[in-house]
This record gives sequence, structure tokens and C-alpha cells, in this order.
Amino acid sequence: RFQFCTIQDQIKKQQNSYSNITDKIIQYVGRDLHKIPSHPLGIIKNRIQTFFENDAITEKQSKYPLKYKIIDNLSPIVSVKQNFDSLLVPSDHPSRKKSDTYYINENQLLRCHTSAHQVELIEKNIDAFVVVGDVYRRDEIDATHYPVFHQVEIVRIFQQDQFSSKYLQHQIQESMDDLKETLERLTRHLFGDVQMRWVETTFPFTNPSMELEIYFQDKWLEVLGCGVIHQDLMKNCQRLTEVGWAAGLGLERLALLLFQIPDIRLFWSQDPRFLDQFKSGQINKFQPFSKYPSCYKDVSFYVDHKTWEENDLHSIIRDIGGDLIEKVECVDTFYNKKKDLTSKCYRIHYRSLERTLQNEEIDILQFKIRDQIKDLLKLELR
Ligand code: PHE
Repeated sequence: RFQFCTIQDQIKKQQNSYSNITDKIIQYVGRDLHKIPSHPLGIIKNRIQTFFENDAITEKQSKYPLKYKIIDNLSPIVSVKQNFDSLLVPSDHPSRKKSDTYYINENQLLRCHTSAHQVELIEKNIDAFVVVGDVYRRDEIDATHYPVFHQVEIVRIFQQDQFSSKYLQHQIQESMDDLKETLERLTRHLFGDVQMRWVETTFPFTNPSMELEIYFQDKWLEVLGCGVIHQDLMKNCQRLTEVGWAAGLGLERLALLLFQIPDIRLFWSQDPRFLDQFKSGQINKFQPFSKYPSCYKDVSFYVDHKTWEENDLHSIIRDIGGDLIEKVECVDTFYNKKKDLTSKCYRIHYRSLERTLQNEEIDILQFKIRDQIKDLLKLELR
């Protein structure tokens, strides 16, 4: 408890007018759902941890069978340097924008990925590690997106003599093969015998970069991003001649699939009808409990499409409505030539997972949201 208070106080103390973090978001910091052994996120985290403790050494790695160091207690408060600069993220990359990331002040933020810790750990010469932690992103609101979620980062760096060739290009290829073998085995450890496919992608800090997709419940789904650690990043860590790989995966994504949980907000529920369904070490299908009715309200306003940032709207709605917001969707857009403005209509769906909402209480929230759209976003309501 004491520790939770300090990290929240730490954020509040360091926040300045640059910050876009609301008190609602601060309340999530320190909940550490991944450390609760009987919580779906904790169950998946422990399964991944067991894999890396017991079964993850490939033939290639067996020359130096390093134990993966499991690290799950790093503070989510990191610097811009840790989260972006150290990972070679370009200065104009969209993920740096205030519309996407929660800043405490100009230099500090709530990490938007566990990759933020890669460089500091590689610099300490830890050559095999797993980082687990909460990450924060300003995002849309729906059944699979939440502004706080949990990631696992895995890194493995090789010694020169573990490669069969002294050429960098070959070593990169060999690292890639090891990466694929490890992650395919991890995926089978979690999902059993599923179909998988590798898709090329790009990340600023890996080259080449890949995503792994699995065929699950009649769909191809992305489960992780990974790649060979960029050589410039290794050089910045004073690891001039070494080559290795990194991977990152989202715990919610995995848990939603494996437990068949229909809505990401349930992970934050304190309702015993949710929590009592799970046992440490066990993956079982979630039994939905009766859903209470939903209701929606529309709000329309004019925006300048050149400067419009939808995430600012989502922040306001979530800040006021909290977990009563099920979904926000844009149901109408049209350009008004005379005003040179675009009219937008958003539909806000309200639903409680715990009770039936009264129309009067939703009206109160809806009016607050309308007021803030006027006052904070300076938009003209229709
Ligand atoms: N950090 C990336 C993300 O959040 C995932 C990743 C991790 C990609 C490590 C490559 C290597 O999307």
C-alpha cells in the first residue's frame, strides 16, 4: 500500500502544465494486476515466466544456457529518453505526440511499452531477460482497447562464438532463426497446436522486424512484435560486436483469447463474479454473468479537420464516464462548406458490468461531457 501511494504521489509531484494525465489514469498506476497469481493476467504472466525459466533454451543458446532474468518491478515512470530516444524512435514519430502518450512533464512519461527498459538492461550486460509491466497509451475505447495494459518484453543477446559465421549478415539471420524458434515454442506452450505465420513489419529499434500471427477461432490474430535488435542500438549500449533479438507481447491480448473474456474492462473488475472464476496456474473459459442493459447518447459538434485529435475526446469521455463507457463511435461526419468546418456526431454507449444504469445518472455524465467538449476542446456543439 505504502509503495502504491508513493508512486502515485511521485507522478502528482512531478506533473506540470504540460501533463495530459488525468487522476483516473493515475489511479491505475500500482494496481499491478500481473502480480496477482489468481488473476487472468497473473496466470498468463506466470505461464510465460515458467516457460522462460524451464523450457526456453534452444540448441543455439545451449552453449551459454543463460537463465532468463525475470524483472517485474520496474517503475512505469520513465524518461522520454528511455521510452523513445534510446530506441531510435524518430523525433517526428506519431507515438511521441501528446495525443498518443501520457506525459508527466516535458521529460517524463508513463511508459507506452516495456521496450523502454531494453537499453538500460542491455547496458548492464544482462543478456537474457524478461520484463513484465503495465504500459499506458491514449487510445480509442472499445472491448479490446484500454488506456492501461500489460506487456512482456523478452531479450536474448549472443556471444560472438555462438554464431557459425563471423559475418554480421549471417549472424542477424541466425539470431532471427533463434528468435522464431523461441517464440513459436512459447506460442505453442500457451495455445497448444495452433497455425502460425510470420509477417514482416517495421519498428525503429529492430531490423529486421516481424510480427507473429496465430490462426485462432477462425481468424488470423497478431500476438507479438519482435526483431533483431538494431545494430545502432547495440552500439549505443557499448556492445559493439554483439547481436541479439527482442520481442514484446501484450498480456491482455493473450488472456482475452485464452480465457474467452469478451471485454477488456473486466480485467479491472473487483466483482467476485469475475475474480472468483480463476485459479492460479489454471486456464479456463470465462462464464459471462448477466449483462446489464446498455444505452447510448449522441453528441454533435464542429471541428477543424486539420487540427482535430480524436483521442482528446476519448480522454474527456473516459475521465468523466470511467468504466461505464462501453464504446465511443463516430456515427456521422460531414463537411460544412460555408463554415469550412467538419461536423461530427459521436455515439457514446454506456453500460455497467455491475448494475442497471438509470437514465438520470447517464444524463448527468452526458451533460458533463458536453460541457467539457465546449470548455476544454473549445468546440461548438450542434
Ligand atoms: N515495443 C513494441 C510494441 O509495443 C513491441 C516490440 C518489442 C517490437 C521488442 C520489437 C521488439 O509494439
